[in-house]
Amino acid sequence: MALLSLKNVRVAFSGLTALDSISLDAEAGQVLAVIGPNGAGKSTLFNAIAGYVPLAGGSIQFDGRDIQGLPIHAISALGMRRSFQNGGVFGAMTTLENVLTGLSQRIASKPMGLLFGLAGARRAEAEAREHAVELLHMMGLAAIAHRPARELSAGQQRLVEITRALAARARLLLLDEPAVGLTSAEREHLMAILRRLCSEGIAIVLVEHAVDMVMAVSDRIAVLNYGKLIATGSPQEVRTHPAVLEAYLGQS
Ligand SMILES: Nc1ncnc2c1ncn2[C@@H]1O[C@H](COP(=O)(O)OP(=O)(O)O)[C@@H](O)[C@H]1O
Ligand SMILES: [Mg+2]
Repeated sequence: MALLSLKNVRVAFSGLTALDSISLDAEAGQVLAVIGPNGAGKSTLFNAIAGYVPLAGGSIQFDGRDIQGLPIHAISALGMRRSFQNGGVFGAMTTLENVLTGLSQRIASKPMGLLFGLAGARRAEAEAREHAVELLHMMGLAAIAHRPARELSAGQQRLVEITRALAARARLLLLDEPAVGLTSAEREHLMAILRRLCSEGIAIVLVEHAVDMVMAVSDRIAVLNYGKLIATGSPQEVRTHPAVLEAYLGQS
């Protein structure tokens, strides 16, 4: 069963149909890229999945549960994280502190103090810190653990944002143009990280304009145009799909 499953999802903004009967699955351990011309509905798709805009029709299941109509925080607590196009880190906090905010969101949902008393709560906090440091090592961020996030490069900030989502136990990452503003070395690093997260069972849905990156990193690609899904398939299938060629050629 797919981790995320959309069935006939429709979103309308006062008359404009921004998403028209979209059915789409995202699997654990895979990168699904969503591409399409400007205004195609890519960001709206993310907003609908993460609960930022209501559906006018259809349904969305995450891990077998209907999530349409749930508030944003409830969806996020189930293990889904959406990144934003600009920023997403707390600039005044260090890298480590940013990641700890992800962990504390997870811990805050459990009444540690009530269950274990103060000593138990302290122990939980120490463990959280250890886990955060482990994640920083895995992501290659350990050397900048104590630098304020605002001093980091765009690529490093993006990785901090992803690390924080992992700390909060995200199982599905929705990444909106994560490669914007990154150097080519940072892009390479980001792609390697995304592949690695997939190999550990995370599902990734990616909106990205950098076609080279999309082709290299994705298992499947979905193509939106005017709110409609015009193609889905492997990078190879999509690259040669007539409707896709027409949508892109028609735009320029
Ligand atoms: N909050 C909103 N209110 C009204 N129209 C919106 C809103 N968000 C997006 N739209 C419209 O929906 C369509 C899809 O937009 P969007 O999802 O941002 O496209 P993309 O991310 O693919 O560029 C566009 O026509 C856009 O103007
Ligand atoms: Mg967009």
